[in-house]
Amino acid sequence: MKLPNMLDAKKRDKNKEVINYKYENVKIDKTLVGKKYFVRTYGCQMNEHDGERIKGILSNQGLIETEEMKEADLIILNTCAIRENAHDKVFGFMGLIKKMKEDRPDLLVGICGCMAQEESVVDVIMSKYKYVDFVFGTHNIDNMINVINERVKSNKQNIEVYSINGNVCEDMPVRRDSKYTAWVDIIYGCDKFCTYCIVPYTRGTQRSRKREDIISEVEKLKEEGYKEVTLLGQNVNAYGKDLYSDYTLANLLRDVSKTNIDRIRFVTSHPWDFTEDMINAISECDNVMPYVHLPIQSGSNRILKLMGRRYTKEEYLTLYNKIREKVKGVSITTDIIVGFPSESEEDFEETLDIVNTCKFDGAYTFIFSPREGTPASKLEDNTPISVKEERLQRLNKLVNQYSNLSNKNEVGKIHKCLVLGLSEKDDSKYMGYTENMKLVNIESEEDIIGKIVDVEIETAKSFSLDGVYKK
Ligand code: 5AD
Ligand code: SF4
Repeated sequence: MKLPNMLDAKKRDKNKEVINYKYENVKIDKTLVGKKYFVRTYGCQMNEHDGERIKGILSNQGLIETEEMKEADLIILNTCAIRENAHDKVFGFMGLIKKMKEDRPDLLVGICGCMAQEESVVDVIMSKYKYVDFVFGTHNIDNMINVINERVKSNKQNIEVYSINGNVCEDMPVRRDSKYTAWVDIIYGCDKFCTYCIVPYTRGTQRSRKREDIISEVEKLKEEGYKEVTLLGQNVNAYGKDLYSDYTLANLLRDVSKTNIDRIRFVTSHPWDFTEDMINAISECDNVMPYVHLPIQSGSNRILKLMGRRYTKEEYLTLYNKIREKVKGVSITTDIIVGFPSESEEDFEETLDIVNTCKFDGAYTFIFSPREGTPASKLEDNTPISVKEERLQRLNKLVNQYSNLSNKNEVGKIHKCLVLGLSEKDDSKYMGYTENMKLVNIESEEDIIGKIVDVEIETAKSFSLDGVYKK
């Protein structure tokens, strides 16, 4: 038993060395071999990739993945803590699981991910959700089998969550969701401590993977037939800072580019760490895709300061314009929070102004959600929720107008698309992504799944394009 502690999670011990170790194979309790497991993942791409590791580890131990939760002998919820609604989804789901456990007491249920790192959540699990069998955190996925085994042996709820800086574990088994695109972590954790954000508390300090480990993973993926890798981190632009004196994301992009994998993407960027050299690397390397997700969060300098974002809207704009100028055909998307504590109508209008100036290709918009333990959650917040909702609607209307416009600009052009499968809405069509990350539904007589093909864009919708495969 090891419980999370938010104060420890906040500490950054600069003298503590990051331990880089290899995954150690531990055998799962033999009663579970051959049993079916179900993993549900919430949240960001990093969490998705953690979910792939959880599945990899379980499959490696002889358990069988099922897509049907009802069939499962072991259920794992890999949770997200970013906003209250992420919490609500998980707690809602746990009600369902409670009923399943009443019918089948042998069913094993585990919780992991970012919510598991929160002290208050674990307190609730221990008092109200006693039927949850085990909990582990973001720092000890590699030790999951021991956590499960301990639960089976003791027959008691087992909680093992570490509120530590964090280490780097290499060679964990992974069961990837796609055969053509793969996530590759390059940096874990975050040291930015934006005042609204829980991530620095749930994912530990900023720690980069060694460049040679990243490059050999990409080389291997290419050999296995993967066409695209997405380099992942809460802030990929900080890559290398903790590990090297003169090796940055720009160098890494150039080196990963030399593997000749068809497509390289990277998310998420923080404007603070985005250098000119990185922009050059993106524009120089043909296989680095022209797409940048660059969260702005607010257009008001007063709010940006309260958010601890470390840039002004003018600085953001300078960077934004440089990327637009230098990277041919680039798409830029962003994240925006409305209703941050004390945001006035004038502050909000400045956000609308910056959207009008930047004309983002797309934006993810959120209402501020106070996260326990973060500085922003302690700020006075007098704006009624109805006003926040109304602001979100106004913002979404504007944002959609520009994503529509950006999509319309693609009509008539020929785009290279990586085709990932059948279209979700219409299975007589295929779906894929352009180099600048636009979703395209594609008409084709031939099976083009897994290929990079030329597609002529015929029509634009708000969130996707329609096109025809050009031989
Ligand atoms: N409330 C609302 N949105 C948040 N985000 C992060 N923390 C919060 C919060 N407490 C948003 C930011 C971030 C994205 C991943 O989620 O816009 O970029
Ligand atoms: Fe959610 Fe952030 Fe954790 Fe990702 S890192 S799962 S977005 S809280």
